[in-house]
Amino acid sequence: MEVLISNWSNVQSMPESFVFPPERRPGKNLVPVCNDIPVIDLKPIDEDHDPAETIQQILKASQEFGFFQVINHGVSEVLMDDTMSVFKEFFGLPAEYKASFYSNDINRSCRLYTSTLNYDKEEFHYWRDNFTHRCHPVDDYIQFWPEKPSRYRDVVGQYSVEVRKFLLRILDLMCEGLGLELRYFDGEFSKNQLLSVNYHVPCPDPSLTLGMPEHSDPNLISMLQQCDVPGLQFLKDGQWIGVEPLPNALLVIPGLQLRAISNDKFQSPKHRVVTHSKEARTTIGCFLIPSNDVCIEPARALVNSGSPQFYRAYKYQEFFSTFTVKGCDADAAFESFKLHG
Ligand code: OGA
Ligand code: NI
Repeated sequence: MEVLISNWSNVQSMPESFVFPPERRPGKNLVPVCNDIPVIDLKPIDEDHDPAETIQQILKASQEFGFFQVINHGVSEVLMDDTMSVFKEFFGLPAEYKASFYSNDINRSCRLYTSTLNYDKEEFHYWRDNFTHRCHPVDDYIQFWPEKPSRYRDVVGQYSVEVRKFLLRILDLMCEGLGLELRYFDGEFSKNQLLSVNYHVPCPDPSLTLGMPEHSDPNLISMLQQCDVPGLQFLKDGQWIGVEPLPNALLVIPGLQLRAISNDKFQSPKHRVVTHSKEARTTIGCFLIPSNDVCIEPARALVNSGSPQFYRAYKYQEFFSTFTVKGCDADAAFESFKLHG
């Protein structure tokens, strides 16, 4: 079990297998921190103000910036803090307990692993442990979740329900902005839900490795709760920019399926994670994922003479396997689904 980096303490020098080839390293150059990431405040809507302005902000952020942070999002801060503590405790549990969750099998509904599911085959490893499990409906999956820490099932169960509500609410506001019928994304488009928690111990040399590769999220939409240690970077206009965690905010990242269904109105920005030399970092991601057999295609209302259909219809499963075969490269995967001319 020495594979799991959460079992390491006080790493003094870079283990060879985590050192990237020179051209893949993030390097020593400082990446600028972005101070103008859009922040959407949902309070005015809760206070019954006209939602039109907030909807426009979400639309603009998704179209022009690519992602945004949300405050006054309705997920209780106490629950967010509790959930973060529970996951930190989980990664700190004895190696023997965590070993029972260790798996590189993508079909296992609850799994703990290091780097990627290809640990044994990959050339070099990413500096992270990831713990991930399904969580909707909670009652179908809770039996597979850890029983330690003892609050795990209770806290993570409540959290899963709350963050799902939050993301469906954001999707509904996007529907209003795009001119799609309300609840367009409910049902099969958002049927599955995964929690995915990244844990990185302090890294002796962050210039040599990454905590997560450059990627776009392949699902419909993602939400991220960060701790106060920075690490997330987005590719914006060809440049990496750092995200400074905003206390109590939730970050929303449109996934590749939202890009396709919106007929390219929304982007699905590329992002990556760099490591930190002094502090451990934990982030909680929640992904809404289409069911395997659902047909994904640009929404009819968004296809017209000025905006021809950019993608053919496909099943999510077809997309996901192409994405995997293409090494999680979104542009390469979309080549198989784009309509040309
Ligand atoms: C992801 C992701 C970023 C982070 O899990 O897809 O991009 O900061 N996570 O952990
Ligand atoms: Ni991501």
